[in-house]
Amino acid sequence: MKALILVGGYGTRLRPLTLTQPKPLVEFANKPMMLHQMEALAAVGVDTVVLAVSYRAEQLEQEMTVHADRLGVKLVFSLEEEPLGTAGPLALARKHLEGDDPFFVLNSDVICDFPFKQMIDFHKDHGKEGTIAVTKVEEPSKYGVVVFDESNGAIADFVEKPQEYVGNKINAGLYIFNSAILDRIPLKPTSIEKEIFPEMAASGNLFAFVLPGFWMDVGQPKDFLKGMALFLNHVHTTKSENLATGKNIHETATIRGNVLVDPTATVGENCVIGPDVVIGPRVKIEGGVRIQHSTILSDSVTQLVFLFFKYTLQTISNYSWVSGSIVGRKCHIGSWVRIENICVIGDDVVNKIYVNTFSLTFIFQVVKDELYLNGASVLPHKSIAVNVPSKDIIM
Ligand code: GDD
Ligand code: MG
Repeated sequence: MKALILVGGYGTRLRPLTLTQPKPLVEFANKPMMLHQMEALAAVGVDTVVLAVSYRAEQLEQEMTVHADRLGVKLVFSLEEEPLGTAGPLALARKHLEGDDPFFVLNSDVICDFPFKQMIDFHKDHGKEGTIAVTKVEEPSKYGVVVFDESNGAIADFVEKPQEYVGNKINAGLYIFNSAILDRIPLKPTSIEKEIFPEMAASGNLFAFVLPGFWMDVGQPKDFLKGMALFLNHVHTTKSENLATGKNIHETATIRGNVLVDPTATVGENCVIGPDVVIGPRVKIEGGVRIQHSTILSDSVTQLVFLFFKYTLQTISNYSWVSGSIVGRKCHIGSWVRIENICVIGDDVVNKIYVNTFSLTFIFQVVKDELYLNGASVLPHKSIAVNVPSKDIIM
């Protein structure tokens, strides 16, 4: 079976993280967002994945090829000259998708338990052109709302981002289609949600598969953090794994609730980590740090090898506090810093390198000691020297 993943779009709502990386590569629970999907597809026997890309293809290609080889999946890159929306990419990749077998189409920014096997069975049972996974949400207006017959799943109507309340079951961004859908899609920018689904629903060709378990579109910071909490809870309850173990966590540190710490990260003395925290590979958390409801992305420690010296630059320094925020890769946060209320610190926020002929001094400062950041969005390669007391973008 084949799959197409929609990986275009500019990921503007997840800026500043998407200024240095395409959205599907941003790490969610220590794995590129899209890798969660690729692994689940491979697990149900998908052997070819078409990546429908509209920008920054090189970075995606490099990273995802390594993962695809490991999973035994063939990757096909289908590059758009102009963004073709959410349906146009299917027309562009037509030759890779057509055939007797149905194929998957996924939005690249959704996270759930990916019950693909049940979805395939449901699709085969109703025998029509398309299946959409649906889930219930509290705020349906930012999604595509699906109106369907709960007894058999037949979709009566599909309304993308409705202005007025239509219902609270929404399109979860995971589909299975028969080749017949390809005859509905022109090779030009086309929205599957606005131009294709309403027609398919009207002709009785679209069915809703009700997604069991958790779901979240993690394409914006607040939802990314909500999704992280749901994901950690899911892993914790279904696999009852302890996700924060290892010799790198100091014996005096306290781990609260669901916390995922990469085995290569270190957590210092008397830290209190959790609930709902992800700490990425090679991150160093110094003593007395308190982190909750946050993700600290990978590689926040930079190692410099100069002649025989090795400098390790830690990321979250002593006694800092991080709550409800995302810290990008390769950042350095000073001591006694307070970061809270959906701050998003871009990648590589490193600003000063002093090199002196006789002695070598590297000073990497992102967020200086004792600062307070409240809802700040900090662009990549920046430094912060003054407090940001209310929501602001630091450019
Ligand atoms: N190749 C390609 N080209 N992909 C695109 C393009 C494009 O021009 N535009 C968007 N995409 C990809 C995005 O990368 C994402 O994976 C997917 O299409 C959906 O785009 P979003 O921008 O994330 O849409 P949304 O979140 O506002 O709404 C969509 O997802 C909701 C579920 O999360 C819709 O499908 C809604 O109906 C749905 O409820
Ligand atoms: Mg989205």
